[in-house]
Amino acid sequence: MSTRSKQIANHGVVGASSGYGSIRQKEDFYSTGDGAIERLEEVYTLPKKVWECACGNGALSEQLEKNGHTVYSTELYKRGYGKQGVDFFKQKKMPTGYDCIVTNPPFNQAVDFVLHSLDLVSKKKGIVAMFLKLAFLESQSRYDKLFYDNPPTYLFPFVTRINCYNNDNRKLGGSIMPFAWYVWDNSVKSDAPQIYWI
Ligand SMILES: C[S@@+](CC[C@H](N)C(=O)[O-])C[C@H]1O[C@@H](n2cnc3c(N)ncnc32)[C@H](O)[C@@H]1O
Repeated sequence: MSTRSKQIANHGVVGASSGYGSIRQKEDFYSTGDGAIERLEEVYTLPKKVWECACGNGALSEQLEKNGHTVYSTELYKRGYGKQGVDFFKQKKMPTGYDCIVTNPPFNQAVDFVLHSLDLVSKKKGIVAMFLKLAFLESQSRYDKLFYDNPPTYLFPFVTRINCYNNDNRKLGGSIMPFAWYVWDNSVKSDAPQIYWI
């Protein structure tokens, strides 16, 4: 077994559930609940300038700003926040002065969001931080398409859960599923993820 496979086996399989319910919100809009950035930055400091490339109505962007970041917020659909009508996949370079992408991507396109982000940031010191289900670690297709060649540098599972709100409807209650931050930090040399609970 390779080092990487061993590492994945050791930290292994985490619970998979479908806490989003049976019908996913059209266009995959789930706003990120409070505390997601604060908890991450208790242990891992993001660069000052970050691009939130699927910002929805700004839930994560506002958390980032509250934590002192300068945030470039873009979104494909009209959700009343940031620069709208911007398809992330059509972006061919990072905004000037930025080398970090932070988002909670649409889950049904999450692998492509990570891959495109890794293409855009610098290979030497770029950072990609994605808020994703723990179950994103699983599956042959994700392993083949993403993790085999691009294991995250860090995995930050939440000790207590952070909610996600369907269509930002906070009255409906949040999702019941576990999330984690997956961080690719090109300034760090590693071939296996380090795990820190937050
Ligand atoms: C899971 S929601 C998260 C919203 C926000 N990042 C947050 O954390 O609250 C994913 C967002 O991605 C947007 N989206 C979907 N496809 C996109 C694309 N190709 N480019 C930019 N945004 C996109 C959706 O409209 C939705 O607002």
